[in-house]
Amino acid sequence: MADLIESTVARRVWDSRGIPTVEVEITTTGGARGRGIAPAGASTGRREAVELRDGGPTLSGKDVRRAVGLVQTHVAPALVGREVADLAGIDRVLGALDSLDPEPDRPRLGGNTTTATSLAALHAAAASRGIPAWKLLDPEPLRLPRPQIQIIGGGAHAAHRTTVQDFMVVPVSATSIEEALVHVAEIYRAVGDVLAARGPRRGVADEGGHWPEVSGTEDALDVLMAGIERTGLVPGVDIGISLDIAATQFYQHGLYVPDDGVAISTSQWIAQLVRICRDYPVITLEDPAGEDDTIGMRLAVAGTDPGTLVVGDDYLVTDAERIARAAEDEAVDAALIKVNQIGTVTAAANAVRSAREHGLAVIVSARSGETEDVSVAHLATGWGADFVKVGSITRGERTAKWNELIRIDAELGGMPLAPVPRRRPR
Ligand code: PGA
Ligand code: ZN
Repeated sequence: MADLIESTVARRVWDSRGIPTVEVEITTTGGARGRGIAPAGASTGRREAVELRDGGPTLSGKDVRRAVGLVQTHVAPALVGREVADLAGIDRVLGALDSLDPEPDRPRLGGNTTTATSLAALHAAAASRGIPAWKLLDPEPLRLPRPQIQIIGGGAHAAHRTTVQDFMVVPVSATSIEEALVHVAEIYRAVGDVLAARGPRRGVADEGGHWPEVSGTEDALDVLMAGIERTGLVPGVDIGISLDIAATQFYQHGLYVPDDGVAISTSQWIAQLVRICRDYPVITLEDPAGEDDTIGMRLAVAGTDPGTLVVGDDYLVTDAERIARAAEDEAVDAALIKVNQIGTVTAAANAVRSAREHGLAVIVSARSGETEDVSVAHLATGWGADFVKVGSITRGERTAKWNELIRIDAELGGMPLAPVPRRRPR
């Protein structure tokens, strides 16, 4: 018998930056319950789904009472009585309610509202069948995504202490999630020791990585390399480096303005990054160019070795069509997937499909503003992602996801990690 949506309830909860966000809970006539919480970015692309925030003086305008109200007045009545198993249908309703051309008295729901609702529906549909969400997406996954974990935070996540936003490691020789996390935890501690030996430590950045006291990008990379070597693991053999440049943040009027404040051209900037990718074992390079700089992205793909994948985040915004075009342009090798960039689980699944159809690698990612919601672990597993990126290995909103992957691994009886992809010959 069909299990129907009975109620859709929203409330204001809090994210890891102390900013309000939307939680939605869906219950069904069969007694199933699913919950989703919207995350929030700090370095957002201009084409991302726009969040609905209240504005005004309180909470820096970031309150979400309107979004919570809209779930009650518009979303709940539209979803009641629908089959919870019909996730695509539910997401179509959310998309229509959030349409670009709203009636005068119907405000847009915002990507935060649709994301929380869509995730809640996913978990309710899984609960309705008595299975976890990953299993709803893929009953028999053959592998778990390989973790990409932040060790040092910079850019918009550490008051622009470094130009580069994210210095991450990927345990490439690890064969299980358990082993991968042990390697990363050792490196996290060792890098902390290296930084402590240089002077006072400044705590952690937004995603739990060390807040660096460094003179620039290459100094941060040297600290990271020193930390890796201290553990006895071999950079380039056991451990790869992943960088999220988040270049949109310092791309102004067609020029790049990095740490030193000196504006340089696209080709000069990409040449610097290509050199860094040769000097250090960089296996993924995310958003090396600004969100509108196709030439910069193409130069990065053309200039780096096949062992360095160029990843699109702000450049792709989890949009199936942008992904297809970027693949044809040879502007990316991999797509970063964030549900709240595009607003629903179905639209993000379409982005994953588009990436696969075009031979791109897939990285499923959390945001810098997160909560205890663990959906990303289920999506990355169920979509067969190559990598999963949720920040560092400290702070509860991050470990919630790593710990969920450990549970998924246990439930599956111990899974291999996805092989490390390389650029396909074109
Ligand atoms: P954000 O950063 O969530 O602050 O946008 C994450 C990323 O750029 O990958
Ligand atoms: Zn990014």
